[in-house]
Formats: sequence, structure tokens, C-alpha cells
Amino acid sequence: MALNSFLAALTVVALAQGASLGQDERLRYDNYSVYKVQFETQEQRSLLGKFVEDRDNFRIWHEANDELHLMISPGALSEFNSEIQMTNVSAKLFISNVQELIDSEEDANLRASRDGSFGWKKYNMLAEIYAWLDEILANYPAVTESFVLGQSYEGRTIRGIKISYKSNNPGVFIESNIHAREWITSATATWLINEFLTSTDELVRNLAESHDWYIVPVLNVDGFVYTHEKDRMWRKTRQPSNISSCIGVDPNRNYDSHWMENDGASSDPCAEDYGGPKPFSEPEIQAMADFVSSNRDKINVLLAFHSYSQLLLSPYGHTNEEFPPNYDDLMAVAKAYSAAVESLPYGTVYRYGTSADILYPASGATIEWAYNEQEVEITYTIEFRDTGRYGFILPPVHIIPNAEEALIGIVALLDKCKELGYLKLKSAQ
Ligand SMILES: *[C@@H]1O[C@H](CO)[C@@H](O)[C@H](O)[C@H]1NC(C)=O
Ligand SMILES: *[C@@H]1O[C@H](CO)[C@@H](O)[C@H](O)[C@H]1NC(C)=O
Ligand SMILES: *[C@@H]1O[C@H](CO)[C@@H](O)[C@H](O)[C@H]1NC(C)=O
Ligand SMILES: [Zn+2]
Repeated sequence: MALNSFLAALTVVALAQGASLGQDERLRYDNYSVYKVQFETQEQRSLLGKFVEDRDNFRIWHEANDELHLMISPGALSEFNSEIQMTNVSAKLFISNVQELIDSEEDANLRASRDGSFGWKKYNMLAEIYAWLDEILANYPAVTESFVLGQSYEGRTIRGIKISYKSNNPGVFIESNIHAREWITSATATWLINEFLTSTDELVRNLAESHDWYIVPVLNVDGFVYTHEKDRMWRKTRQPSNISSCIGVDPNRNYDSHWMENDGASSDPCAEDYGGPKPFSEPEIQAMADFVSSNRDKINVLLAFHSYSQLLLSPYGHTNEEFPPNYDDLMAVAKAYSAAVESLPYGTVYRYGTSADILYPASGATIEWAYNEQEVEITYTIEFRDTGRYGFILPPVHIIPNAEEALIGIVALLDKCKELGYLKLKSAQ
């Protein structure tokens, strides 16, 4: 059979097999597997791309210029295997049963909940994070301040915390959990907030007190709640589309900066990287942009927390034909982060480069917009642990080690920024 008609047939057969609903109405991923597929040619890549159009059976977990991580429904596995053979690419099994990982994550969350409602031995829900934030704000009123970015599509409040020990500090903005399923990001962001306020370590005290921190632990609040209540693997926002029954926009493709250029986002509302009907169509992203632009004179560095892959990605995302003016500095700063992380006993390796160069064109992301449109000269997307063994369902025992890596990485990153002259005050405060 010709490949195209084979794929067409496969799509029809397999559509019936989407993830099923459990008794509590949560989507289940029984026997869904995740494979790493390595390809060499663009022809192979576009043949693999056909899979991705069949969203009931295939979901992209990660994509780079030479590999795809694909989640596959059990019903589509044999078709996947023959396709792999036909396109002559290599596939390595990472996860044999996604539901098993979700279940053990949930067990760990339940066990840890017995010792109290909030902590870093488990992944916390939005309500728990907000209740904890209130406690923190009440306990440290002299150095913390609550701020509100705005309201989500479903009407939830998007909250942030500012930590400032003294005036005339350079500012660091941390955006976290813009992608709903990347739970390690809000776990890490909250751990950092706690360290900045409670640590007695001299290195941490110096870090905490000599910068002003603006931290939004969960930006995509609707998507995050949805991952806890309905679908652990949800990535996007929850605003319905006018032109499709598919829901949500990739919020990290929705900023008004080279929006949709160079295939840097999809125009298909069903795609995981749908850029939206227009820039800033998502209220969460509009709110974030309003806050950052009205505080741009106070923000020297912007870090966007993501998972997974262990990467530091800098602008540009929209093109790899051109590099940003301070490319050498961006690489030197990323290298400092990576070296610091690797020096810890965990030995975790972070690679770095521009988004377009080491991954693929991605336009309309937070770091692109902040860099291109708001004159924040140091911006990174940081993709945390791991490299695919657990992917998005990183067991909670990794939370503290991952957060320690982020902490030491940020110390080195900001030291390097200071050395290179990026932490000067942008305006009198
Ligand atoms: C998953 O696969 C196992 C082994 O093939 C099988 O026994 C089990 O019934 C499957 N589970 C579901 C929910 O399909
Ligand atoms: C398949 O890939 C292998 C290893 O990359 C290569 O040696 C072989 O020539 C390829 N075969 C075809 C039909 O492309
Ligand atoms: C959907 O259509 C309505 C009516 O034309 C419009 O007001 C709204 O902005 C559209 N929503 C999106 C997300 O495009
Ligand atoms: Zn992400």
C-alpha cells in the first residue's frame, strides 16, 4: 500500500481509540507509551508529522531538530511500528504505560498530603499554592508584596509575588507554568520563593536580597487546574475556538512578536502549538504582557520555566538565520548556569543555544516578546528535568533536586549578568 493511503487508513482505524474517561471523569492513559524517534532527514520528519495530525492517538511530548518524543495510544502501536520501519527511523521506548506514572505520582501526592497541605514532596494544586502564598505574604510583610496579573478566561485570578529587601535592586521576573502539564515548574518556583525568604545560607541570602523578584508561580491557571482535575497531559489554555471544536491556545506562541512567522506556531486550533486566532487572544497572555510592559524599566532578566529537556533557550525563536545582537553574552550567561548545575553532585547536564537553532522555529513566546519588544536583554526559557525517562510526569522526589539546580544555576546566571553589565538600574526607582 502506498504510504499516504496507508496513513489515511490508519487514521480511520485508530480514531476510535482515544484516551478513555475514568470513573472520576479524568482522562486515563492506560497502556499509552512514549517513544523517542530519531530522524535524519526532513523527509522523514514530514512523514512522522502525519502521525501528529491524528491527535487521538499521537501527541508530541517534545520536538527538536533531530528527534520527536511521541505519546502513542495502545491501539495505534502496531501501525506506529510499521511506519517506523517504513521511514527507516530509530525509535526508543521511554515510557511503556503513561497511566502507571500518573498513578504513582498521585499516590505520592496523597502520601505527602497526610503530613500537611503544602510541600515539595508532592505537586500542589492551585488552591494549595494560593493558600501557601497568603501565608508567606502574612509571614514576611516587610519584604513581600502580592500582585495580580489579571483574570484567566475561566475567571481565575493570576497571582504573583514580589520579593524586595532593599531599593535600587535589579529586577528578575520568573514566569512559571505557562504550559499546564509542566508541574515541576510551579513546584520549583514556590521552592525558590521559600528559599529566598527562609534560607540562612549566605549565598542564597545574597542572591535573594540583592535582586527584586517578580514571581508568577502559575500563569496558565485554567490549564493547570484542568491538568489536576481532568487531563494530566493538557498543555494549552482553556478558551474555546470560534472555528473548531478543539479548545485552547498554546500561550507560549500567543505573544505579539513575530507572531506565527516562519511556521513558528500552528494555525490549526487542534494543534498543541496553536498560536491563537490573533496575538494576545488569550487573556492570561494579555495580562502578563500588560504587567511586564508597565514594569519593564524594573526588569533586567526574565526567566520562563518549562519542562522537559534540560535546556536553556534564548532568542531568537522566529529565525535561525539571524542571531540576536548580544548573542555571545547570552551564550556566556547560559554556559555559567549550565556549568553551575553540572557542578552539583547530581551531575545534571543542561545544553543551551537559541530556540530556533537547537529546537525549531517557535515564535510568539514570552522570552521572544520580552526581548524583542520590551528591551529585556537577558531572557531564557529554561527546560527543567528530565530528558524523557519520565518527561512531564517527573516523580516528586525530583522536585527538590531540580529546584536546587535552578537555584545554583540562577546564582551563576546573575553573577555572569552582573559581570557583563546587565544588572544596572534601567531607571531611577
Ligand atoms: C494494558 O495492557 C495489559 C497487558 O497487555 C493488559 O492486560 C491490560 O488489560 C491493558 N489495560 C487496559 C486498560 O487496556
Ligand atoms: C536505513 O538507515 C540505515 C542507518 O541509518 C541506513 O544504513 C540504510 O541505508 C537506510 N535504508 C534505507 C532504505 O534508507
Ligand atoms: C469569536 O467570535 C466573536 C464574535 O465574532 C468575537 O467577538 C470573539 O473575539 C471571537 N473569539 C476569538 C477567540 O477569536
Ligand atoms: Zn513548556
